[in-house]
Amino acid sequence: MSSTLTLQVNGQAQQVSAPPNTPLLYVLRNDLQLKAAKFGCGLGQCGACSVLVEGRRTLSCDTPLWACEGKAITTLEGMGNPDKLSALQQAFIDEQAAQCGYCVPGILVSAQALINRTPKPTEAEIIQALNENLCRCGTHTRFVRAVLRATGQSQVTA
Ligand code: FES
Ligand code: FES
Repeated sequence: MSSTLTLQVNGQAQQVSAPPNTPLLYVLRNDLQLKAAKFGCGLGQCGACSVLVEGRRTLSCDTPLWACEGKAITTLEGMGNPDKLSALQQAFIDEQAAQCGYCVPGILVSAQALINRTPKPTEAEIIQALNENLCRCGTHTRFVRAVLRATGQSQVTA
């Protein structure tokens, strides 16, 4: 049975009507038209659906709506936009850190969660933080470089 819940998404209150056990990912993509978070495995194993809940990485395919009510949810759309990119988003562009791009929203969210708790992460910390985000294109080396760049820890290369 559907319930009406109020979610705080990217700084805005959003009323949604859905069964409380609906995965957050479905509501973000289908009700709120926030398409950055992706459906990958649907089983909590790939990281493509990552969003921030209270600043922490959360797998939205595996998180029911009822657990999100009243909490601050941030999707990639809330981290920046084409007119005002975040430092992390700009660094991913500068490092050309994407191939097909399917995993990249989840990678950016996981990297932002890391930076939220560790503003200048080491390379080992970045690798560990991104370890649970799968990338079939094998782009992790560039992701690590981009996070180092975004946190002011890498030399700018031509
Ligand atoms: S789609 Fe959520 S972890 Fe894979
Ligand atoms: S860039 Fe293609 S899956 Fe990661």
